[in-house]
Amino acid sequence: MIKTSFTQLLGIQHPIALAGMSPGTSPELVAAVTNAGGLGILGATEASPERLRVLVTAVRAATEGPFGVNLVVNFMSDEEIDLVLDAQPAVFSTAWPGEAQDLKPIFDRAHDRGVKVVHMVPAVADAIKAAEAGADVIVAQGTDGGGHIGLMGTAVIVPAVARAVAPVPVLAAGGIADGRGLAAMLALGAAGVLMGTRFLATVECHGRGHSKDALLNSLGSQTVASKFYDDVLAIQWPGSVVRAIRTMRKPVIAAVNGIASGAGLGLVAACDVRVASSAASFRAGWGRVGLVPDAGAAFLLPRIIGWGRRG
Ligand SMILES: Cc1cc2nc3c(=O)[nH]c(=O)nc-3n(C[C@H](O)[C@H](O)[C@H](O)COP(=O)(O)O)c2cc1C
Repeated sequence: MIKTSFTQLLGIQHPIALAGMSPGTSPELVAAVTNAGGLGILGATEASPERLRVLVTAVRAATEGPFGVNLVVNFMSDEEIDLVLDAQPAVFSTAWPGEAQDLKPIFDRAHDRGVKVVHMVPAVADAIKAAEAGADVIVAQGTDGGGHIGLMGTAVIVPAVARAVAPVPVLAAGGIADGRGLAAMLALGAAGVLMGTRFLATVECHGRGHSKDALLNSLGSQTVASKFYDDVLAIQWPGSVVRAIRTMRKPVIAAVNGIASGAGLGLVAACDVRVASSAASFRAGWGRVGLVPDAGAAFLLPRIIGWGRRG
């Protein structure tokens, strides 16, 4: 058993936390991590109030140990904070505040309810801000991680944050998947690790089979870090890109006049991910060009990036 300031703070056996991935966590997964002696964290950002109550009740039914609930600060409302704190988790896990958001009142609300705060940061300046706002644990997340990530590598950000916020316990996140990774992060000054992607490839995770296959069969070189995902969904997520495994043959399709058709256009060159489709076709001389996640959903045209002309 490895004792650190993190395990002691939460009274748990192992310095390992499950990342609060919304919607990648399930009550079974959260409870399994907690029951195994780590800290399970439930991702709640996309959950409705009713759904959150159901999820928390299911976690409680499956474990008596401590667990956390995660919200993305930039998108959370006052009501959602109350909902999470009313559920009385051991930990309120937070990440990604907007530039103007003050963390202290948020962390104070958790502390007033006896809930500890585990806050994730992508840079040293953010770690100092979070420590000054009273975070109990800071997660230093490196760009090696899955999901939304900052721009510093895990091996660089972890010792820098550990030094900057000492004695606040720091968890390392980003690209850690086994005991060797844990040992390396402890050597870099972390008090534990927070893992996301590795836990997606477990039986307790409710993910689709083919996603797990993609994770298990990945060599690591198929991942793409890009703003594409947020651009397509028109989400403002300052200072971050998204790392994901590239599964689509054509990650960018331009659709014209709202009708699905691939296009290899100069306009697409403005995007981080480019694909020139040989199947380009236009229904009219000129048309709106947008980005879509794949050809099947092209008619939704969720993000228009300009105009295209029949070539
Ligand atoms: C599918 C997925 C969804 C995620 N969703 C969230 C989220 O809702 N809130 C959050 O704070 N972090 C989220 N993260 C980031 C994790 O908290 C964590 O930093 C990351 O998974 C660590 O890197 P790893 O995946 O290499 O272990 C997500 C990560 C993944 C892979």
